[in-house]
Amino acid sequence: EEAAGVVLVDDESKGKATRVKVYQVADMVGQRVRIQAWVHRYRPQSKHYFLVLRDGTAFVQTILTGDCIRTLDAIDLTVESTVEVVGIVEKVKEGQSAPGGVEVVVDWWKILGKAPGGIDAFEGRLTAKTEPSIRADLRHLELRGQTAASVMLFRAKMLRAFREGFEKRRIIEVTPPCMVQTSVEGGSTLFEFDYYGSKAYLTQSSQLYLETALPALGDVYCIQESFRAEKSLTRRHLSEYTHLEAELVFIEFKDLLDHLESLICEVVDTLLADPIASEIIKTLHPEFQAPARPFLRLDYRDAIKYLNEHNILKEDGSHHVVGDDIAEAAERKMTDQIGKPIMLMHFPKALKSFYMKALPSAPEFTESVDVLVPGVGEVVGGSMRIADLDELIAGYKREGIPMEPYYWFTDQRKYGTTEHGGYGLGVERLLAWLLKRYTVRECSLYPRYMGRATP
Ligand code: 4AD
Repeated sequence: EEAAGVVLVDDESKGKATRVKVYQVADMVGQRVRIQAWVHRYRPQSKHYFLVLRDGTAFVQTILTGDCIRTLDAIDLTVESTVEVVGIVEKVKEGQSAPGGVEVVVDWWKILGKAPGGIDAFEGRLTAKTEPSIRADLRHLELRGQTAASVMLFRAKMLRAFREGFEKRRIIEVTPPCMVQTSVEGGSTLFEFDYYGSKAYLTQSSQLYLETALPALGDVYCIQESFRAEKSLTRRHLSEYTHLEAELVFIEFKDLLDHLESLICEVVDTLLADPIASEIIKTLHPEFQAPARPFLRLDYRDAIKYLNEHNILKEDGSHHVVGDDIAEAAERKMTDQIGKPIMLMHFPKALKSFYMKALPSAPEFTESVDVLVPGVGEVVGGSMRIADLDELIAGYKREGIPMEPYYWFTDQRKYGTTEHGGYGLGVERLLAWLLKRYTVRECSLYPRYMGRATP
């Protein structure tokens, strides 16, 4: 029975402990606190144990000494167990460092949920050597790591910065449906499913719905999942991604370009001014610098010239000609060489969707723009939309799209048509640029791509 270890008593004779989240501890020097958290790291020494605790809000170092390391719980403590600790917050000693510059000297603690040790121990499940497919199966555990968690925290701050930017510009948030019966970006990437006996799809883009909200609400945006049945595995394609889309009414093409540039720069500035977000950028992308304004505005035809002058070839080894799509590899090579964001404008009509407005000076091209950034390539696709009813009907015909299911979209051109334009931004792609992630998969909580919908 003696081997049962010391039993600690959670009494408040040493003073009442304030229940806190870990991020609050740094400001509580001299106070008694009670914390519930996971054991992130664990270093037992003969006279004291150092535990780094994590509760998702921050990390804190704790020290256990005396009776605290003679309990049964202390004998086989494991990483990723949950614990409750009570102790006094102290500044760390001169010359030592710990998160927030403090440590908690613990006088009572217990295990809340014990994680396994031995062959099932957390440390053994995910290591630097774990192969990618097993790592993907263990995404729920990987999220506990500092890198994945900081990407997700940064993502939340970025979405918030966009929402602030929209709010400031009086652009209203709407929530269009994800289950739809029309396509926006062509039939080849539609996920189809049975909807009470009729055919429906997962949305590729909420653009058409945003357009219908303009007469009701003025400028609108949404941050919603889009779905693409991409049949290849690339660094920047997901089957489900978070699509930030906006639609602006009574504007010209130049207004769309100015809006995009100002919003993106403002979001970057907001993130750099946020102490936590800027620390994450500094850690994951130390050489990042806010892009200079104005962004380079490059006509598609000049981009084709650029590719040829710099010997950036097509996948089949031939030179690009006007009319060609610029593939992912060539686009990224050009963007990396130029080394800053580019607004690539005026794509050929034949490469683009049915709704895009023609360039008045050269109607075979469109008032369209892709924003390209180093390391990733395209992060935004946008355009002015066709305002004229007959031009829209010609667009449906050109793309072989049956008009009937689009009756609600066509009605926008009948009842008070307007000049308007908008864009879609791939949230994971923007994150991959800002945080220098090799693939967009690292920027999604649970990435979906060909062959993977687990966990
Ligand atoms: O260029 P896209 O296909 O444009 C549209 O869907 C328009 N209807 C948007 C609009 O104007 N409202 O997609 C827009 C952006 C791309 O620039 C890219 O950043 C992202 O969405 N995107 C993807 N991100 C991850 N995985 C995929 N499979 C993506 N496909 C597009």
